[in-house]
Amino acid sequence: MGVIGLLTAGGDCPGLNAVIRGVTVRATETHDTEVLGILNGWQGLIEGDTVSLDRDDVRGILARGGTMLGTSRMDPYVHGEGLASCMSTIRKTGIETLIVTGGDGTLRSALQLADEGLKVIGVPKTIDNDINGTDMTFGFDTAVSVATEAIDRLASTAEAHNRVMLIEVMGRTKGWIATYAGIAGGADAILIPEVPYDLDAVAAVVKKRYRRGRPFSIVVVAEGVAPPEGATLEVRKDAFGFERLGGVAYALAPEIEDRTGFETRVTVLGHVQRGGTPTAFDRVLATRLGVAAADLAVAGESGVMVALRGSEIEPVPLAEACATVRGVPENLYEVASAFFG
Ligand code: F6P
Repeated sequence: MGVIGLLTAGGDCPGLNAVIRGVTVRATETHDTEVLGILNGWQGLIEGDTVSLDRDDVRGILARGGTMLGTSRMDPYVHGEGLASCMSTIRKTGIETLIVTGGDGTLRSALQLADEGLKVIGVPKTIDNDINGTDMTFGFDTAVSVATEAIDRLASTAEAHNRVMLIEVMGRTKGWIATYAGIAGGADAILIPEVPYDLDAVAAVVKKRYRRGRPFSIVVVAEGVAPPEGATLEVRKDAFGFERLGGVAYALAPEIEDRTGFETRVTVLGHVQRGGTPTAFDRVLATRLGVAAADLAVAGESGVMVALRGSEIEPVPLAEACATVRGVPENLYEVASAFFG
């Protein structure tokens, strides 16, 4: 076959380098097929910024966070004319199939390119774990591990000072990290966008713990929850036009403090969750996805993304991935909430 083009777009995510390594080694060593890395996401495809990749180029990157190809928030449909904006690079380099590693916005653009006739394979990526059609995304396990460690650390200082600790984790529209880290860290309350919150109920939990001789509490908050009534947060936008989130916990803390009388402190974890080395789980998942994407590209497939289904990696239509954003199911949140208090 012709050349495989490979790009990583959108926010970075631990495991991206494992995907790049997986695609490159599988395509070049197993299938004798050339791989062209595209620099800085869609921007590199539009501007013709590429680098040839072989086995030696991807040594030593498996355990590294970030992406050796770079990424950006540029998008061919938001900032260009779709496929037409990418054609000059595609023609010049002989790219036959494009492997696109990205979150929901990136995969939507990948689907549009496939609809315009380009051969495209998607690789789902986000620490938020909210892409439809796959049971889990790589990066999520790493983010949950970081958030859980933070909760463990906050619990001991909360206990020493009889404080309520609010820990805000990422999760733009869905509360996967908050729910998993909250379960793992034994949170006393978890606020996620999928479930409307009741601050009186949170305060009741804090007071109940006090009565039972536990005068400290841990509350996990997903960054995407609505601010409390009457609070206004400063809204800044990214290059996609998405709101830059972070800081809602600062508006929630005084509400909890006023209702409980307990000093309430805030930790916003932010990008710590996205940086650094991926967990072993994420390295394995990302490697398997990269290998599967290369296999599908060589087989001439298009319009699908590689997905974890049960314990297998399977192709799923990109249209399914883009159909909805996957939220925390009620029964999982119910498990978490059984331990509140
Ligand atoms: O979508 C992944 C994510 O980490 C969100 O949880 C977060 O809101 C967003 O990216 C932040 O992206 P950036 O660092 O580009 O503003």
